[in-house]
Amino acid sequence: MDEFKVRQGELFCEEVPVSRLAKTYGTPLYAYSRNTLISHFEKIQSAFGELSPLICYSIKANSNLSILAELAAQGAGMDIVSGGELVRAQTVGVHAERIVYAGVGKTREEIAAALKAEILMFNVESEPELRRINQVAAQLKRIARVALRINPDVDAQTHHYITTGTKENKFGLSIPMAVGLFNEAKKLKHIQAVGVHMHIGSQITSVTPYLQAIKRLAGLLADLRNAGHKIDYFNMGGGLGIIYNEEKPQTADAFAKAVVPLLKPLGCKLILEPGRFIVGNAGILVTSVQYVKRGHVKSFVIVDAGMNDLIRPSLYHAFHQILPVKKSRSARTVLCDVVGPICESSDFLGKDRHLPELEEGDVLAVRSTGAYGMAMASNYNSRCRAAEVLVSGPKVTLIRRRETMEDVMAAELKGVKKFGK
Ligand SMILES: Cc1ncc(COP(=O)(O)O)c(C=O)c1O
Repeated sequence: MDEFKVRQGELFCEEVPVSRLAKTYGTPLYAYSRNTLISHFEKIQSAFGELSPLICYSIKANSNLSILAELAAQGAGMDIVSGGELVRAQTVGVHAERIVYAGVGKTREEIAAALKAEILMFNVESEPELRRINQVAAQLKRIARVALRINPDVDAQTHHYITTGTKENKFGLSIPMAVGLFNEAKKLKHIQAVGVHMHIGSQITSVTPYLQAIKRLAGLLADLRNAGHKIDYFNMGGGLGIIYNEEKPQTADAFAKAVVPLLKPLGCKLILEPGRFIVGNAGILVTSVQYVKRGHVKSFVIVDAGMNDLIRPSLYHAFHQILPVKKSRSARTVLCDVVGPICESSDFLGKDRHLPELEEGDVLAVRSTGAYGMAMASNYNSRCRAAEVLVSGPKVTLIRRRETMEDVMAAELKGVKKFGK
């Protein structure tokens, strides 16, 4: 599953003790295993090998440039949702014809930048967006390739905040609306509609909702072709679940085995947009104990990483395993909440955990935080964002230095008046 292993009581990231990473780079620290990252990309690539898909890694899961560069070097394309993510993809040299662009709120400026870059296609989420893309493309004298994102109205059986393919969600177009919009797209001079796209949610551990969604889209595809539309691309989105605790997601091979028989007869180029599956288990958040506060019912282990570093527990009640990076001196375990320094009651990394007795300076690892960890980090409470390292065998590379207050205040400092001067 990953290359974070406990050897003789000590947690290693590949060949490097995590305690050494904490000592050298400080905490909070995100540490990634390169082998885990690459092997997960390869798992998807080989599972779907028969269809030679374009695998567009979903940048939003983890947008560190070095992570993107590693994946680009393996042949990954990129799934972007903003002009900023386009700049990141371009910065690491991803070929534009391997970039797809989703998201419900694309601005004119973002659309223009993507058109100038000549990305493969936009995944269009609404009728007004399609018109806007046509207008911007006309101004730039370009043709925009688009897929329409279809909301198949299936329940992905995941947390409701990360379900995206039901009719209550803001994403995509319903199947009846899509037919009308394909007809309209045909009349727009600067639009070439070439595909259908879906993305039904994230951390999906069962293949069933995918099968339902693909069947619905297959019906739509047949209708579109009967109506004379030429559809070359089928984008199945991302969403594959991973193991955080006791989940039992299908393996990439089992998943592919189930969906390929439905995808193959579609006769389309397949696009996949995995994020979490590739990077989720490849990262840990390393944090140091500041205080242990003993309460009547349980203890609070107060650490130096908070919801500003990892918001998933606060936002989705997400579970992440937490373990000391070195075997404790004491055999006793204590019931505790592992909490951060942020002034919010929702600032916790783990609740009701049985951990060995801890003391100031002990280092903990919060596991499987490679996806939607650092990417969702903030400066709340004016806290500097964590450093990030990439480990490959015995080699450690600092891939993002720790932020300083100068970085945090940089956009505000110019022109600021010092009180009393
Ligand atoms: C359009 C789209 N594609 C792909 C993804 C990646 O999802 P995951 O990280 O669950 O694979 C997302 C995530 O929300 C998304 O919105």
